[in-house]
Amino acid sequence: MISLYKTDDWNIVEEGFHPERQRESESIFSIGNGYMGQRANFEEHFSGDSLQGNYIAGVYYPDKTRVGWWKNGYPEYFAKVLNAPSWIGIDVSIDGNAIDLATSKISSFRRILNMKEGYLERSFRITVSGNKTIEINSRRFLSMAEPDLGIIRYIIKSVDFEGTLDYTVSIDGDVSNEDTNYGEKFWLEVSRELNESEGILVTRTLKTDFHVSTGMSFEFTKDNRKTGAKTDITAREKYIAATASLGIGKGEEIVLVKYVSVLSSLNRPKEYLVRDTKSRLTDARKKGFDNLYIEHVKEWSRIWAASDVVIEGDISAQQAIRFNIFHLNQTYTGKDERLNIGPKGFTGEKYGGSTYWDTEAFALPFFLKTADRSVGRNLLLYRYKHLEKSIANAEKLGFKNGAALYPMVTMNGEECHNEWEITFEEIHRNGAIAFAIYNYIRHTGDDEYMGDYGLEVLIGISRFWSQRTTYSENLKKFVILGVTGPNEYENNINNNWYTNSLAVWTLSYTLKNIHILEKFNPDKLSALFGKTKFNYDEETAKWQELIDNMHFPIDSTRNIFIQQDGYLDKELLPASSIPSAERPINQNWSWDRILRSCFIKQADVLQGLYLFEDQFDAETIKRNFDFYEPMTVHESSLSACVHSIVASRIGNIEKAYELYLRTARLDLDDYNNEVSEGLHITSMAGTWLAIVEGFGGMRILDDGKVFLNPLIPANWQSYSFLSQFRGILFEVKVTKDCLTISNLSDKVLILNVSGKEHQVKGSEKLILSLKIDFFY
Ligand code: BGC
Repeated sequence: MISLYKTDDWNIVEEGFHPERQRESESIFSIGNGYMGQRANFEEHFSGDSLQGNYIAGVYYPDKTRVGWWKNGYPEYFAKVLNAPSWIGIDVSIDGNAIDLATSKISSFRRILNMKEGYLERSFRITVSGNKTIEINSRRFLSMAEPDLGIIRYIIKSVDFEGTLDYTVSIDGDVSNEDTNYGEKFWLEVSRELNESEGILVTRTLKTDFHVSTGMSFEFTKDNRKTGAKTDITAREKYIAATASLGIGKGEEIVLVKYVSVLSSLNRPKEYLVRDTKSRLTDARKKGFDNLYIEHVKEWSRIWAASDVVIEGDISAQQAIRFNIFHLNQTYTGKDERLNIGPKGFTGEKYGGSTYWDTEAFALPFFLKTADRSVGRNLLLYRYKHLEKSIANAEKLGFKNGAALYPMVTMNGEECHNEWEITFEEIHRNGAIAFAIYNYIRHTGDDEYMGDYGLEVLIGISRFWSQRTTYSENLKKFVILGVTGPNEYENNINNNWYTNSLAVWTLSYTLKNIHILEKFNPDKLSALFGKTKFNYDEETAKWQELIDNMHFPIDSTRNIFIQQDGYLDKELLPASSIPSAERPINQNWSWDRILRSCFIKQADVLQGLYLFEDQFDAETIKRNFDFYEPMTVHESSLSACVHSIVASRIGNIEKAYELYLRTARLDLDDYNNEVSEGLHITSMAGTWLAIVEGFGGMRILDDGKVFLNPLIPANWQSYSFLSQFRGILFEVKVTKDCLTISNLSDKVLILNVSGKEHQVKGSEKLILSLKIDFFY
């Protein structure tokens, strides 16, 4: 499909009106601020096809589950983030002719997502009755500085029209999700109040009883002077609206500013919601559009100053990476440990806005390098707070003694997924949560975290691995049977190399940290042992036995790791043998055919080689890459980025770049023909990783130093990225012939560039020639 959007370094620009592709643009132009977010639905009436989406982080509904064949152990519900009351409504009538963007005559349409300043703007002309033309310009943002606030500035300029404009400014709480399992509505009204310039609608969710207060306050100005208007009010169940009539002359301009505050019982007592919404609206109005906007932009400048990536010589890559960084920051700001990152963020309903392993495996590494350490810590605390529920989840499946199985999909710590091959078998997610603790500590140096929280989680997960493993008399080894690896195109397999590797790694890392704490903080350790009823001798001995005797499927002829037992018995064909009309296979082949084929949905063995690369030499990684990459169809958005990083790791920049391109503009160019459902937020972090860890070769070594080994794609003149490391912010710039590291902090940065150690003092630069040997 041809992309609608122009390339530009800081903006996404759509020119011309394309109502038939409105769903796609609604996803692309989504805005958010971590606290709430919304698709780019029109403010005005639009009778065309649209997916209405306005979401508040953490406000969800446990929809009754739908399943073909019930299995014991399945969860009762599927949590979904709710489409919340829509507050954007501004309907306009021109001399009594109500505009409908699907049918009215529209020209000069332009929509912009300004990523530098974080706003959505539309401008267009609209003509009714053949000769009454006005120009509309609307700018909308969700404040990054005061996250409960959303603001719309709506300007109408008359081109050749003299007469009356009627504005209906509304809040509509009668909303529903498209993906409800039984067509139900989830909101009830609590209260509504409205006068001529302000209104508040309070609604509550069924079952979860979240109360949400959505308030609006609006004012009109003409020639910079406030102007009154004759206003009628309409209020009915779950809906409030004020209709203001204003006269306009030829060439005149009327500015409407709609201030909105959204508060919920997640953050304050229900009985104060109305009171507080009123005072938030008063404050917002006092500050006014300009000041609120300045504060918002300041926050975005702060975000960009820590996370921007600059690419010279490839504007479409430049636009794409900023698009990804922008959406990641709109989705999660790390201020609230109860929140997390849904694979689609606030841009659609798919995946229910719930938490997947995507967070730990993809999003966390992005936030560790681009945000304050509290952001990564909150992502970890989210899981820590769910430990008890994970233990209960494991108990429900028959595990005991404090073994923890974190859910595959969750909102509040309880499992929501109900396909046995995933819910019960895709247990590698537990390993990603363990690995995240290691990743967080090596990036931040926050060693205290281990004793305070990390080790308790690791003990729960290690207990799970230890009980999930069986001893094979036949092999005289421990095996892990009946799993699904990251490659979901194979289920119920035995000894997935990746899963077995994670299990052994977790057990070793847990033991290592028990021994460290034993030495440095024995009191804390014994309190933890008491809390977890840890049987030191028995449990540590069993874990060591597992570590020493785990079975790993290996092919000694090809000298590669085997994805799982029996994989090599398949007919091994390259993905290039699949006719292009049959791709993606998940939309064209029966599930049965997919399961029997050798084709790999997403990085699996290579996901493991990415995480544990320091255990293997470059030759081993290369052999496995050369074997698995041709059979991988990359039908998960989380795949190509990992293969790209591994390709860079083995010095294959051409392949790394080719794979990078598959992820970089996934949504902007709608490769998978599904952007209408929402954006691939978590995979956006993977794209960023393909630049920083892939091309840049950045790692944090176990000795606590930053490692770099940069490569540069042939058609880029240069690229630069920013990174945090233990309180040091630095910039890495790579050109064809040199590498510049600028230390933007006042502390000394010690780094290892391709095997050689360097020091960069605070506020200083280090410039190195790129004619350096590969370290690997
Ligand atoms: C992938 C999973 C991923 C999920 C959500 C699936 O298609 O196979 O690995 O967690 O999407 O992004």
